[in-house]
Amino acid sequence: MVEQVNFAEVFLSDTLGAGACAVVHKGIYKAQEVAVKAYNLQVQTVKKNAEREIQLLSEIDHENVVKVLGTARDGKTGYLVMEYLQNGSLYDFLYGIDQWEYTVGQAVRWAFQCAKGLAHLHSRERPLVHRDIKPQNLVLDNQFETLKITDFDLATDMSNNRSDMRGSVRYMAPEAFRDRKYTDKSDVYSFGIVLWELMARSLPYEHYENIGNQFAILKAVNDGERPPLDAVRSDCPEGIKQMIERCVHEDPEKRPPMKEIEDFLGRLCETGIDEDFIEVLDEDTYAVVTYHEDSSGQKMMRVDFWRSLGEPIRMIFPIIKREAGRIEEVIVRETVRAAEDVGRETARAAQDTERETRRAEKDAERETSRAAHDGERETRRAVQDVGRESKRAIKKIGKKLRF
Ligand SMILES: Nc1ncnc2c1ncn2[C@@H]1O[C@H](COP(=O)(O)OP(=O)(O)O)[C@@H](O)[C@H]1O
Ligand SMILES: [Mg+2]
Repeated sequence: MVEQVNFAEVFLSDTLGAGACAVVHKGIYKAQEVAVKAYNLQVQTVKKNAEREIQLLSEIDHENVVKVLGTARDGKTGYLVMEYLQNGSLYDFLYGIDQWEYTVGQAVRWAFQCAKGLAHLHSRERPLVHRDIKPQNLVLDNQFETLKITDFDLATDMSNNRSDMRGSVRYMAPEAFRDRKYTDKSDVYSFGIVLWELMARSLPYEHYENIGNQFAILKAVNDGERPPLDAVRSDCPEGIKQMIERCVHEDPEKRPPMKEIEDFLGRLCETGIDEDFIEVLDEDTYAVVTYHEDSSGQKMMRVDFWRSLGEPIRMIFPIIKREAGRIEEVIVRETVRAAEDVGRETARAAQDTERETRRAEKDAERETSRAAHDGERETRRAVQDVGRESKRAIKKIGKKLRF
């Protein structure tokens, strides 16, 4: 049962968003920041949707679905009081004023949380479909780490498989507008478009931006067009690309169930995604760590040391896939040690003669390759002794900058 809130205790402030049927405000309720959705109950369809949204949303208790705190009424306006997610919608994050960078790992964590929330809706005793999954309806909190699904305006019981054509066209599965049929697999389609958007950071079908674009998009999707996979960021894992393709498949039956997507993304979060990063070693030396696969499919980590004095040095390590996440820290530690040696040698050499410099360079290279060997040996040892080693390694690489 939804708690009835005395409207006099709710204080409304800024507007967070306004849709076709409602306005969402920031507010304070019982000394807590809240989001308050206000509906004009005089309009019959709005009233019906509001009742449905409140009913459905208050039934759900999941970490990736926005929580309802209560409802209130003030004359002809109805209010839904919800927990407030400080960092606003994913849409605002992706396209807002502060265009902050995010890693591919972060994108996968967001997608995972969305998949988890949706899988929960689809697998409840009384399954629900959301019918309006898009970045505007996904909200972020906890320094952009937590993602929750909001806006149950169009959500409905899965037993009702009729589409009422009110979702957003960019995210609407072809069967939803063509056959007016909406199932859990139509949510999967919308999710697939969002996953693409997270990896491409651009609006789907952006090039159709013209007055008649809604119809242009519907026609394109009907003709089999989808957001292009080659527009995704270069570090997007291959598995994610394949997942996008499967999610937006023409045939709903061929799209994976949400639970499978949740499990896939969960595994990806757990094993870690190799993200390129720069390690600043000192003011003269830094290491650029990048990942790639060689022609046989073996995953490799490449470390380029850049020094203000002297040539860059490159090292390449194979990564044992199964152990990749765990041994990475040890390898990084070893490479950091090697580069520190390089930096030290180089600095000393700079004060010496040219001959000294050359010698130091040689030393440094020897040091580096020694450390690389050590790295490999350490790696093997670390496989047996990972927990302790990783912790120590993490401490040592405290200066690591991820971007
Ligand atoms: N719980 C919340 N916390 C923070 N912002 C929210 C919350 N709920 C909604 N918003 C913001 O308000 C906007 C509109 O809310 P939504 O429920 O999607 O309304 P509409 O049905 O009008 O689309 C969202 O896009 C988001 O920016
Ligand atoms: Mg919305």
